[in-house]
Amino acid sequence: MTDSIRVTGGRALNGEVHVRGAKNFVSKAMVAALLGSTPSTLRNVPRILDVEIVSSLLRLHGVGVDYDVESGVLNADTTTLSPADAVDIAQHAGSSRIPILLCGPLLHRLGAAVIPDLGGCRIGDRPIDFHLEILTKFGAEVRQADDGLHLSAPNGLRGIKHELAYPSVGATEQLLLTAVMAEGITTLHNAAVEPEIKDLIDTLQKMGAIISVDTDRSITIEGVTELRGYDHVSLTDRIEVGSWAAAALATGGDIFARGAQQRHMGSFLNTFRKVGGEFDVTPDGIRFYHPGGDLKSIALQTDVHPGFMTDWQQPMVVALTQAKGLSIVHETVYENRLGFTSALNQMGAHVQLFRECLGDKQCRFGQQNYQHSAVISGPTPLKAADIEVPDLRGGFSYLIAALAAEGTSTVTNIGIIDRGYENFRGKLTALGAVID
Ligand code: EPZ
Repeated sequence: MTDSIRVTGGRALNGEVHVRGAKNFVSKAMVAALLGSTPSTLRNVPRILDVEIVSSLLRLHGVGVDYDVESGVLNADTTTLSPADAVDIAQHAGSSRIPILLCGPLLHRLGAAVIPDLGGCRIGDRPIDFHLEILTKFGAEVRQADDGLHLSAPNGLRGIKHELAYPSVGATEQLLLTAVMAEGITTLHNAAVEPEIKDLIDTLQKMGAIISVDTDRSITIEGVTELRGYDHVSLTDRIEVGSWAAAALATGGDIFARGAQQRHMGSFLNTFRKVGGEFDVTPDGIRFYHPGGDLKSIALQTDVHPGFMTDWQQPMVVALTQAKGLSIVHETVYENRLGFTSALNQMGAHVQLFRECLGDKQCRFGQQNYQHSAVISGPTPLKAADIEVPDLRGGFSYLIAALAAEGTSTVTNIGIIDRGYENFRGKLTALGAVID
């Protein structure tokens, strides 16, 4: 498959897309299967590159992984779990950050784990300091070697009291996956409470874990000595749903996202409505459409759940280039997630970046010289351009921009988009996009 796509824009996207399970839950649930002494079954699993990457990582550890694309059912048999080689892990992990989450389960089940150098999207530093601090506090010993970090737990893992400096999704998952089988009680304060984390907690509970979540971002876990496999249906990918909704808005279209769940998308739906988009919630999904007339400018700030997700920001910025007036976007989760806007300017958008916090709160990046606020002046007609995808969500946003633009754009490095958008080429074609 070629790593570029030609998009002839200027047409509204109309029709239906089926959105399956959430990339950012499915990959973690697959890791959770490692904790079970019996096989697990995960349902509603999309065919995306991240699922393939985690499947490879599990297989390297002796896990039998069997995935049926049509039904979306993935079975993971962990009864033959065994250690893997560091070089093989690095080779299969690609740029994924998932290997860091394997540490707790592997320490419990095998007594050792290896992590290669970690990648992920180029949207900021994306350090792993929170993860290593948590693992060491539980009792893991970390040794740096040429092929990565080697972890062991000679004295076992014991429950901890921990407070996160920032409600990090990955660090919360790290703590959950380690605490469920650690000896004694673990408490976490300032935890992330994204719906994908709630779904992970439900999954772990099915496996035999004892976890309670309080209203103040604190989580308590009572360690148990053994967990079994699970059978679980993944929640829908709310990032993919938001991306299609933004595509409907930017192209003046009408898209029914089958599988979309309102309860996980409150802040997105409020924003969509304020910009001037319309939506109808049905039991089977949500219809998003541009009702005609001008879109409205807004002030938007990304935040941890229940705020407006950072992953919705990039697609929504493309739609805001078509809104009348000045919109303000303050990115408070990643310091470098507005860099993708330079290509939008190349296509005719007017997006200016600022180092200051242009929102109603001061964020961690305000004093650090990062261009993390944007002022978007619209509406600006977009024109075709040759653009290179910088990261997963930025990449899908470039496709939206190319679809909204007059003329034929060439978008390169699109392989990244396969990490999180199932069959996006087929879905675009079904919506009437002209691509080749
Ligand atoms: C998850 O990343 C998602 N990835 C991201 O989605 C998502 O944008 C992010 O959560 C926020 O919702 C996966 O689930 C695989 P974090 P994660 O730890 O867990 C800082 C996508 O496109 N931090 O909540 O890595 C970090 O730099 C991806 O699907 C530390 O400082 O995000 C960031 O500023 C992109 N030290 C903030 O916390 C650490 O050790 C939030 O990151 C870890 C994080």
